[in-house]
Amino acid sequence: MFQEITQSAPVNQPPPASYQLPPAMADTAPPIDSTYNFIFWFSVVFTVVITAAMLYFIHKYKRRPGVKSEPTGHFNRLELFWTITPTIFIGVLFHVGFASYIKNATAMEGATEIRVRAKKWSWEFEYPTGDRVPGELTLELGRPYKMIISSDDVLHSFFIPEFRMKRDAVPGQYSFIQFTPTVAGDANVFCAEYCGTSHSGMLATVKILPPEQYQEFVKTLGKCTGTPEECQPEKWGERLFVKNACPTCHGAGGSGLVGGSKAPGPKLAGIFNTPQTMASGPPVVADENYLRESILRPNAKIVAGYTTVTMPAFVMKDDQLDAVIAYLKSLK
Ligand code: CUA
Repeated sequence: MFQEITQSAPVNQPPPASYQLPPAMADTAPPIDSTYNFIFWFSVVFTVVITAAMLYFIHKYKRRPGVKSEPTGHFNRLELFWTITPTIFIGVLFHVGFASYIKNATAMEGATEIRVRAKKWSWEFEYPTGDRVPGELTLELGRPYKMIISSDDVLHSFFIPEFRMKRDAVPGQYSFIQFTPTVAGDANVFCAEYCGTSHSGMLATVKILPPEQYQEFVKTLGKCTGTPEECQPEKWGERLFVKNACPTCHGAGGSGLVGGSKAPGPKLAGIFNTPQTMASGPPVVADENYLRESILRPNAKIVAGYTTVTMPAFVMKDDQLDAVIAYLKSLK
């Protein structure tokens, strides 16, 4: 796992995870939970009652020596009872589920919009300021949000269990979810639709901050945070490399290996200023221009043997690009 999931100090203590459900951290969770619990306990009660009745009748009417069985007659009122009663129950269960579905599907006024882009195999979040941040979604406690979700390549699914929210990310189409975070702390993003080799590594963290801390975060958008040491281009570039989930396809440190075998993407370590064989056309020297082009327009030149997986384009600010290139040059 390339991403460290850290726990920041919670302001409102998140309600503890129940036996079945993770903690509820947004306004969307309680109605889903009560629907879920209602359907769950409804099913438990009926399973117990029906099983008990079955066992009782099995015993009561078991075969006994000298007793001959008689065919059962027809009993209209009983037939009607066990047809109509379950139909009413299904109607009630449908209503409960549909009411909370409709509530979540109705557009909310005045919500802050965040663009969520899914790509093989990372999540990218674009804030209203235009800044794009991979792998980490930072939200303000108590502020209503609308996530506008799309995919750059194949079908993915944006899933935040703590918000009880999941929506498919469909190529060529927008989908949305909306919520208001109600508890400060960390939540998780998973991809809930199988999307290829590194589907299970397609993760992100949600950080819910109280307003003062959120204001601090906004000031750091698009900039390097940390000590001057940590913000040397190579070091910052290394962090951006990990946050953009590059190791998922290129291996840790650009080794070209994932789990000991050939990674979906080519090796990056030690390639700087050396000729690379392309799938078509003459060999290309991996200089700064080649690295830059390969990040912004990955399919302009494809390394021989890596044509089966398509790398998504990454949009970065120039100083971020410089940092990533500085890191790639440092890899031996
Ligand atoms: Cu993206 Cu699974």
